[in-house]
Amino acid sequence: MDDFSRLPIGIFDSGVGGLTVLKAVRERLPDESLIYLGDTARLPYGTKSAQTVSAYALEASRRLVSFGIKLLLVADNTSSAHALDALRAEFPGLPVIGVVEPGAAAAAAASARGRIVVAATESTVQAGVYPRAILHSRPNAQVTALPCPLFVSMVEEGLTDGPIAEQIARHYLDPLFTGPDAADCLLSGCTHFPALAPLFHRLLGPEVAVVDSASTTAMVVEDLLALRHLANPSGQPGTIRTLVTDAPERFARVSRVFVPWEIDVAEVETIELG
Ligand code: DGL
Repeated sequence: MDDFSRLPIGIFDSGVGGLTVLKAVRERLPDESLIYLGDTARLPYGTKSAQTVSAYALEASRRLVSFGIKLLLVADNTSSAHALDALRAEFPGLPVIGVVEPGAAAAAAASARGRIVVAATESTVQAGVYPRAILHSRPNAQVTALPCPLFVSMVEEGLTDGPIAEQIARHYLDPLFTGPDAADCLLSGCTHFPALAPLFHRLLGPEVAVVDSASTTAMVVEDLLALRHLANPSGQPGTIRTLVTDAPERFARVSRVFVPWEIDVAEVETIELG
């Protein structure tokens, strides 16, 4: 068991946005080593069918598992929405955590009146998983799942504030956050949207709770490691290994939107999947 606990945590995402989840895990569990795999050759996942997303998620996760990991963390919302059951069936005995349940729990707890909007990719919205998970913990909630595809490219372009970002955010959010039935909670159900949190706060005001799954997911990881006696006992800072399936330079450049540290492109490994 002790040797197993020294293995890294595998984190999988369609690309670079999952670094928001890696950052939260890093902050909460600095002793854990992490292997991050971003499937940059095949992103975006958020516009693809359930079948394709599941197939991609399985391939990427098999690769992570082949390195030896003690836990698989699916940072990608779209894969968490479509592929979690398939991944759990594929790797029995390996704990597999997605971001949907932790995000849903965070929104259910943060919303004052239970009027919750989940902003996500088209494919995640189609899966219907966020409303189901929120209603599970808060049965009287009114949940609207809102596809916001433009937010993904906007964030990757570094447009996290300013007039263009504001206009697009208003286009999506104004209809649901104005009037007597206005929502009181916005859940970012996509890896990229936490980068827009300051903009959301500014546009929606202090009455609206703005939440995401990253920190709640890190808490779930911590609890699970403790429960299964898998926390790294070394007491040394963990390492981070980063893998992509294409364009490591772009990955390193765009990563600046998501993490406050520099990613050295020379340390980003490129692998092939499929
Ligand atoms: N990582 C995806 C998600 O959280 C967003 C980017 C993509 O569509 O691949 O759903």
